[in-house]
Amino acid sequence: MTINRRQALTKIIGISTAAAGATLMGTSAFAATDADGNFHLELGDKLMYVPLDAMATAKLAYETGGGCMHQIFHSIVTMLANSTSADAANFKTIPTALAGYGWAGIIGQGTICGNLNATGMLVNILDGLNGQNSAVIGSTFRYYENTELPLSSPEFVAGIGSTEEKTTTEVVKPSVANSVLCHSSISNWSKASGKTFSQKGERCKRLSASITFHLVELLNRAHGGEDLSLLPASMPSDEAQACKSCHGVDSTMGSAASVKSDMECTTCHTGHFN
Ligand code: HEC
Ligand code: HEC
Repeated sequence: MTINRRQALTKIIGISTAAAGATLMGTSAFAATDADGNFHLELGDKLMYVPLDAMATAKLAYETGGGCMHQIFHSIVTMLANSTSADAANFKTIPTALAGYGWAGIIGQGTICGNLNATGMLVNILDGLNGQNSAVIGSTFRYYENTELPLSSPEFVAGIGSTEEKTTTEVVKPSVANSVLCHSSISNWSKASGKTFSQKGERCKRLSASITFHLVELLNRAHGGEDLSLLPASMPSDEAQACKSCHGVDSTMGSAASVKSDMECTTCHTGHFN
């Protein structure tokens, strides 16, 4: 049996495969390689983020097909694969096509919007965010719930390579999703614009570009050391926090059911005691 240098090293000094890979490849501490020295993302691996150009990434997302989840996941992973990150080559190994299932709230089910599904899938594997992965995710979810989208300022439209004409005829009107669901996002837009789900093409492509833009800005800020977790934009709304004070995760008020969620509660529940 022939053994390569990494295997030999492992045998000689008895360190783990993951640590041996990291030593030889100069990648993140947890990065794992197989027997042939190829990187395969494993549970717990984190790949180094480096600041990206938010508009260039949003433009790539706008131009990328395959549904909203794929637009975001593929564009940011591709930018990182072509960046100066120490893990650029490892980003390149990620099969971004897996994100193709996320369109229209998971293959048309209208549940979690693919933009947010992609955000979770991506941010969960990033290193270099000063421990603010959850804050970036929370902040993106709250932004999606509360902001009039898609972004349609002249600068943004020009930046991603769309046109004002598409704003007037295809997006018609931006709208607020009020929820993390694809369903409410699209149906609230339909109500605002008079268009149907089938006519969502430009609107949803531009929505993915908008979320990409915002997400990259948040990632850049987290990477730069800003504490995002303290910002109201990263936290559940005051109302949701009040609900959670009784509907807690490890204890609840009396017979109240336990809740683990940062979503806006009153989109779906009327609340009580009022
Ligand atoms: C002061 C504590 C408290 C707060 C604040 C609170 N709840 Fe509750 N909630 C309870 C308790 C206790 C029950 C169980 C009532 C019962 O069993 O009759 C309950 C029950 C519920 C139920 C079950 C159906 C019902 O109405 O009985 C829902 C849904 C609910 N709460 C949602 C919310 C939401 C949404 C908010 C915030 C807008 C909220 N709660 C805030 C204590 C609280
Ligand atoms: C996207 C819609 C949605 C959002 C947002 C949401 N819930 Fe719910 N929640 C539901 C549904 C649906 C059920 C199940 C209701 C049923 O079976 O009758 C439920 C169940 C519950 C229950 C148990 C109901 C019972 O009868 O005892 C509580 C308590 C509750 N939710 C509280 C919350 C709180 C607090 C939040 C915010 C942090 C929240 N929910 C956000 C949809 C939602």
